[in-house]
Amino acid sequence: MHSVSRPLIIGNWKMNPGTKQSARRLFKDVQKGVARIRDVDVAVAPPDVFLSLFDKTKRPVLCAQNVHWEKLGPRMGEVSVVMFKDIGVKEIIVGHSDRRAAGETNEEVNKKIHTVLKEGLTAILCVGEQKRDTGARYFNFIEKQIHEACAGVAKTKMSQLVIAYEPIWAIGTGKNATPNDAHEMKIFIQKVLTHLYGRNVAMRVRILYGGSVNAKNAEALLTEGMVNGFLVGGASLRSEEFIEIIKIAHTHAR
Ligand code: PGA
Repeated sequence: MHSVSRPLIIGNWKMNPGTKQSARRLFKDVQKGVARIRDVDVAVAPPDVFLSLFDKTKRPVLCAQNVHWEKLGPRMGEVSVVMFKDIGVKEIIVGHSDRRAAGETNEEVNKKIHTVLKEGLTAILCVGEQKRDTGARYFNFIEKQIHEACAGVAKTKMSQLVIAYEPIWAIGTGKNATPNDAHEMKIFIQKVLTHLYGRNVAMRVRILYGGSVNAKNAEALLTEGMVNGFLVGGASLRSEEFIEIIKIAHTHAR
C-alpha cells in the first residue's frame, strides 16, 4: 500500500500526442527523468490506444483516463477494467470534468469506482466545481460529488482511492487555484471523508490538486497548499517541465 506522505504525480495526456512515435518518445523521456527519483510515485495516462506500447512498466505507472463499469459486453467504444488490467494498467481516472461535461453522472462515477476497486486497481476520483460563488456553495457541491461517488464503497477499499481536486475554472486556463484555496479544499475533503469513514481512513487518502499545474506554481501548491501531488494536464506533455514538477515533489517529499 502507498504511504500518504509519498507524493503522487500523474501526467494526464488527454487526447495527445498524435502518433505512437511521439507517445513513445514522451514516455521514454519521463522514464529516464524519473529513474533516480525513488520517493515520488509517478504515473502517466496516455490515450488508450497507446497504453499497450508501454508494456507493464513500473515507473511511470500506467493510468487510464476513463473506464466502463461493466467487464464485457455490447458497449460501443468502451473499454473495461479487465482489459486495462490485462495490459498492465494500475490506476484509472474516474469522473474527470471532461467526462462529466459529456454527461457522466455521479451515479456512473460510483459504478466505475466500484468496478475499479473490485479489480484491485487504484481509482483517481476527480471532483471540482464549475465556478467559485461568493456564498461558498462549491463546498456543498464537492461534498455531494464525494458522497455520491463513494456510496457503498467499503472502508477497507479506501486505500485504493485517490481524490483529485480539479476546479473546472482552473483546467487548461492558466489560472490555478491559490495554494491557500487548495489547502482549504484539502482540509474540507478530509473532513467529508472523516465523516464517512473515520479520521484514520480519511487521513490516509491522498488528495491531489489539478488545474493549470506547472513548474512555476508546483512548489507553493505542495508546500503551502499541502496537497499530496498533482494531476497535470498540459504541462505533462512537455517532458522537461513534467520532470521538473516531479523533482519539485522530490525536494519536498517528507
Ligand atoms: P491542465 O489539466 O493541467 O491542463 O489544466 C488538468 C486536468 O484536466 O487533469
